[in-house]
Amino acid sequence: MNVRIAGTGSALPGKILTNTELEQLVDTSDEWITTRTGIKERRIAVEGEYTSTFAAEAGRRAMEMAGVHPEEIDLIILGTVTPDFPFPSTACIVQDLLGATNATAFDLSAACSGFIFGLSIAEKYIRSGAARKILVIGAEVLSRIVDWQDRNTCVLFGDGAGAVVLEASDGDHSLLSTHTFSNGSYWNLLYQPGSGSRNPATNSRTIDERLIYLKMEGNDVFKHAVRSMEEAAVKALDANGLSASDLTLMIPHQANRRIIDATAKRLGLGADRLFTNLEKYGNTSSASIPIALDEANRQGLLKPDNKLLVVAFGGGFTYGSALINW
Ligand code: UT7
Repeated sequence: MNVRIAGTGSALPGKILTNTELEQLVDTSDEWITTRTGIKERRIAVEGEYTSTFAAEAGRRAMEMAGVHPEEIDLIILGTVTPDFPFPSTACIVQDLLGATNATAFDLSAACSGFIFGLSIAEKYIRSGAARKILVIGAEVLSRIVDWQDRNTCVLFGDGAGAVVLEASDGDHSLLSTHTFSNGSYWNLLYQPGSGSRNPATNSRTIDERLIYLKMEGNDVFKHAVRSMEEAAVKALDANGLSASDLTLMIPHQANRRIIDATAKRLGLGADRLFTNLEKYGNTSSASIPIALDEANRQGLLKPDNKLLVVAFGGGFTYGSALINW
């Protein structure tokens, strides 16, 4: 049984926060952010908008493109580090919002690799015959865990969601492989110290010491990101007997333009075969790849039999890749 992407969708907040506006919040400049990251602006959720808001809308758009009704969905997998609540899962809230009454639904915690980990699990459900139609979503409202006093991190992140409908298929236009990896030795280089069981939100120290906010050792993460994304990309190519020159497009996790360029250089991929949109949205963690995939798809950049590689890296560390024959 093969597994194909039947539809893509994305949803973003309407509110835009530009680099110039950030200059009013922290000691930074449009010039620093642009040259160090490639980001120009990001989208920010407003009051009344949550992770489930964008996740459900992205899912609805993906189902619309796939021509699939909500009741036909067997499984909803939602990658996020910013769920609406610690529990229940945001996937269950999305199930309710969409009316996907026949689905099993759960969240998946793999930070920026959440969407690719979700694809990998979904692929196995379909290949084993346990499900036929699956909604895989990456959705984040990172602006609610970003420290708006920390210039090292607050300029990097944004909010939004992307989704795909995966379905069982007999054809060749399919997911060729998925690979996932974890390296827990580095869990404390990118994490949110507070609000879990170690530093509960009910503990005043959690608030006083700003443990509630995301922390990152940016420079170390940068080096691991380049090496790991290259490794995940090579694993995908080798598993399919392909080389970088066979790729039509690579959609990497959108964290930093310099990470993307360094990874592409190691793979020998030219800029013409890279899809990026981080200048508009910043790093949206698990949402970055499905948002970019939806944009590339709706712009008509993907034609039948094109080879598409998606590759991610994130907190954990986690990393992974998926190769798709479009
Ligand atoms: O999505 C999961 C994975 N996440 C990532 O992949 C992010 C990985 N890391 C990065 O993208 C980069 O490391 C950053 C963009 C976070 C930082 O770039 P960098 O080239 O690694 O800079 P740096 O951390 O070495 O800092 C250079 C300088 C420091 O000043 P000093 O100590 O040299 O005086 C920082 O304080 O830049 C300073 N700096 C800033 N200056 C102006 C840090 N943030 C800012 C800022 N505006 N927003």
